[in-house]
Amino acid sequence: MTVPQKTLRKFSGPLLLVGAGKMGGAMLDGWIARGLAPKRVVVIEPQPGKAVKALARRGLKLNSKSEAAAAGAIVIAVKPQSAPEAVPPLGAYVGKNTLVLSIMAGRTIGFLENALPRGTAIVRAIPNTPAAIGRGISVMVANAKSSARHRKLASDLLAAIGKVEWISEEGLMDAVTALSGSGPAYIFLLAEAMTKAGIAAGLPAALAARLSRETVSGAGELLHRSDLDAATLRQNVTSPGGTTAAALEVLMGPGGFNALLTKAIAAATRRSRELG
Ligand SMILES: NC(=O)c1ccc[n+]([C@@H]2O[C@H](COP(=O)([O-])OP(=O)(O)OC[C@H]3O[C@@H](n4cnc5c(N)ncnc54)[C@H](OP(=O)(O)O)[C@@H]3O)[C@@H](O)[C@H]2O)c1
Repeated sequence: MTVPQKTLRKFSGPLLLVGAGKMGGAMLDGWIARGLAPKRVVVIEPQPGKAVKALARRGLKLNSKSEAAAAGAIVIAVKPQSAPEAVPPLGAYVGKNTLVLSIMAGRTIGFLENALPRGTAIVRAIPNTPAAIGRGISVMVANAKSSARHRKLASDLLAAIGKVEWISEEGLMDAVTALSGSGPAYIFLLAEAMTKAGIAAGLPAALAARLSRETVSGAGELLHRSDLDAATLRQNVTSPGGTTAAALEVLMGPGGFNALLTKAIAAATRRSRELG
């Protein structure tokens, strides 16, 4: 287990977190682990969970907006459908140096710029659910008003839930949503499909489920830790004429994995564009 760098120890705040659900809560845990003092955080959340309440006992300000004036950062983690009601009032807490960081799927920088005071520094990010265990990946794009300092702060805030990447073209966010945003679901489906295929090949259901789960998570961890790329790791477990090769001939043949995933990710990209 790696010890998190205390990158947020010097952040003076206040940090206003709007929405402490699954994603907001995971970020909050990560920030505290990275040295952010609870007293520097203001959380707006109608139904705070146990972890947020425990932090409130350590100095975090819960639903007390008045403490958030001229926030160092405002992090918006409400559902996209709550945005028209939740975002415009946040303008009251935007100061000269405030960074607004939004993780709402499909809510564009244009939407945020229209809802917030002119000149606000805005970063839009797409995280994914492994954020819950600090193993997410977030892709970010900044508006023209964001300085290097704002970008560094956004990187530090999202590094608390995993890796970070920057892009300069917001139009790519639909493809990012389709690949890494929705991607964990494809991997869970792979585990489901392997279980069903194992049962079809004669294994007891519970054993097939355990084998699939450990194979998918173990192979993912191996990929994570290895310096080798996925193609090399695949080749390393494939002997010519062997069992893996027999399966890969099917999976890599016409209409196989590549074709299916290209189609699936194109469909998700289109859907993201429609929703945006
Ligand atoms: N989960 C993912 O994989 C993922 C990936 C990328 C991006 N995102 C984005 O992350 C955001 C949060 O997702 P989530 O899964 O964490 O959702 P969630 O668990 O539903 O969390 C949202 C929280 O915000 C609260 N809330 C609603 N309106 C509010 C308001 N006006 N002010 C303050 N808090 C308010 C909600 O409370 P109530 O329950 O009382 O409404 C809820 O606790 C979404 O915009 C989503 O698009 C999620």
